[in-house]
Amino acid sequence: MAITCHYGDRVEFAAGAGRRRQDEVYRAGVYGRRPLVPTAARALQARAKQALNARAYSYVAGGAGDEATQRANRAAFDRWAVVPRVLRDVSSRDTSVELFGRRLPGPLLLGPVGALELVHREADLAVARAAAAAGVPMVFSNQASVAMEDCAAVMGEAPRWFQLYWSTSDELVESLVGRAEAAGCDALVVTLDTTMLGWRPRDLDEGHLPFALGKGIAQYTSDPVFRQLVEKRAVAAEPRGPQPRPTLAAVQALVGMARAWPGPLVENLRSPLPRAAVETFLGIYSRPSITWSDLAWLRSRTRLPILLKGVLHADDARRALDEGMDGVVVSTHGGRQVDRSIAALDALPDVVAAVDDRAPVLLDSGVRSGADVFTAVALGARAVLLGRPFAWGLALAGEDGVAQVIADVLGEFDLTLGLTGHTAVDQLSPDVLRRVA
Ligand code: FNR
Ligand code: LAC
Repeated sequence: MAITCHYGDRVEFAAGAGRRRQDEVYRAGVYGRRPLVPTAARALQARAKQALNARAYSYVAGGAGDEATQRANRAAFDRWAVVPRVLRDVSSRDTSVELFGRRLPGPLLLGPVGALELVHREADLAVARAAAAAGVPMVFSNQASVAMEDCAAVMGEAPRWFQLYWSTSDELVESLVGRAEAAGCDALVVTLDTTMLGWRPRDLDEGHLPFALGKGIAQYTSDPVFRQLVEKRAVAAEPRGPQPRPTLAAVQALVGMARAWPGPLVENLRSPLPRAAVETFLGIYSRPSITWSDLAWLRSRTRLPILLKGVLHADDARRALDEGMDGVVVSTHGGRQVDRSIAALDALPDVVAAVDDRAPVLLDSGVRSGADVFTAVALGARAVLLGRPFAWGLALAGEDGVAQVIADVLGEFDLTLGLTGHTAVDQLSPDVLRRVA
């Protein structure tokens, strides 16, 4: 595939990401400088825990129920061992892959992660800059803290996708899809495992839902269809009776909602619209009634490739392709939805077999390192989505923190590829692994 000048530096990056990254770190170390954030996921999360307030940390770290799914996602990786091969000239390596007509520096995307303003002021904007600089696609969350147009504006031609939650309003869905096309998104990811939020004890115990505070609803407050719905609701709302004495928390919440609504804060503080926006969002966010027969409607409304996220059963993967979908993302939503779910990596081989090369199969949930990327790709994933690790990088060091997490994961992937005797991603197959438990 033709590679434009613009991508030149990224391809070079793809060719030697690991050694370049080591070189950078060890050279700086001579002058006493350490990496900005820890280079391994466990330490990264531990540092972020120290830096964040309890609610923000709990929201990102937490999962459904007893969090058995999160543990299973990691344990599934532990059941596979890489079997390195020697003496195969690995001096020159290419970690790049092609996905929906784009050449990417590695089999890696940044997955959709909502409400990032909880962990950093610049939220999605910082992520967009870091992703674009690396040429790694960013999947804009439907629950983002920054409107997709604003992220796209800082990304140049770099790849981005949009993740859709199927709202109860068809008009809103159409509007979001149209905006994603206009913002240059290469694909749509429809998340199907979150038609309702899972049972999340950490958030329940904090009584904390970011959206109820106006956080993570920027794709909505920036949407013309949504804004019309909000205005209708505000007009229809009952005239206010005597209000209970506001608590400090309630005042803070109202200020938060006012900030989330476009326009001057002082005006928003007096306006019923910010509160109506939160109520409108809570009313239309989820559509648990969607079924396979709804997909044709979405298919007819966009020419973008559509991937279904949250597929864990081979029959669902097959059906997705039969319904005209262009790919699936094997995912447990990071264990945030169903406790005691099958791990994403455990579900991958059956899904890969069912899809049988007809479309890309992506995976997320539990990917923490370049070695994990290697394992998932060897088991048949065309690429993986990184989740929590980049959120921790963002929490600790904004754009630079995300950039480092991307460079570290791609760097370790490159080294793992070479050190196991491979020079290109398409050489990986289940043969490079052994099941050890
Ligand atoms: C998510 N995830 C997610 N998925 C999605 O489709 N839309 C979203 O808005 C969000 N929001 C979100 C917020 C937070 C804080 C987390 C941790 C996750 C799920 C995400 O895309 C991905 O599936 C998981 O993060 C993968 O699990 P790990 O690897 O992060 O544990
Ligand atoms: C979550 C939603 C935003 O996992 O997807 O919190």
